[in-house]
Amino acid sequence: MPGSNNQQAVFSHLLSAALQNAALPDYISKSITENIAENPSFILDLFEIMQKDPYLYILVDKKTSLSGNYEPDDLIELTNKSYRVNRTGMTLREAAEASLEKMAAAAAKEGLTLLASSAYRSYDYQAQVYERNVRQVGQEAADRESARPGHSQHQLGLVVDFGSITDAFARTPEGLWLSANASGFGWSLSYPDGYEEVTGYRWESWHYRYVGIELAEFIKNYFDGIQQYALKFMHEWVMLASHFD
Ligand code: DAL
Ligand code: ZN
Repeated sequence: MPGSNNQQAVFSHLLSAALQNAALPDYISKSITENIAENPSFILDLFEIMQKDPYLYILVDKKTSLSGNYEPDDLIELTNKSYRVNRTGMTLREAAEASLEKMAAAAAKEGLTLLASSAYRSYDYQAQVYERNVRQVGQEAADRESARPGHSQHQLGLVVDFGSITDAFARTPEGLWLSANASGFGWSLSYPDGYEEVTGYRWESWHYRYVGIELAEFIKNYFDGIQQYALKFMHEWVMLASHFD
């Protein structure tokens, strides 16, 4: 937490600019601003998260992309463990795989089996997935559910698509369990129901991004559970704060 009055003034200015640039709904900006006036928990949480691997919080959406040659260097292969795989050769970053196993073990205790159906996708592979979608449903429909290469969170190696990858997944015991419990293990639903205007994508009840337990909590506590709001805010914050380095 900044100490001097001058630092505090710079800090308040940064915060309101980041909230404004992120174009968050008023009720979110207001509650964050009010929270900060009362106690520093928002800032302490933010600073703690920003000490971690930046790829946990980096914004990857329709506007902001990863470079074509970004490839994580700690990908490991998924094999049938507490979770199951629907084919061989899928990979995830180490921390995401470890958390997936932990989460799946907890689900298994309740008689549920988490099935990983898609995980890391390279830039080139995403290009093929997107092109196939365009061929099958046309560009407009494809853009509602398939990211263009460089714009997919799957390229981070931190995302799993679970189960059938259809809307029916939401009503399965596994879909319901994930919706209630995933954030406790550090996983966040990227494209919730009713937020296409915000995320750019239609509801995907199966697509979870591993963001770590602290950021999952942060999203829940301050951003109404909407990952896009939190990551957009952090994106704006990092850009503004970089001018002060
Ligand atoms: N289905 C999500 C948007 C992706 O292609 O990454
Ligand atoms: Zn996905």
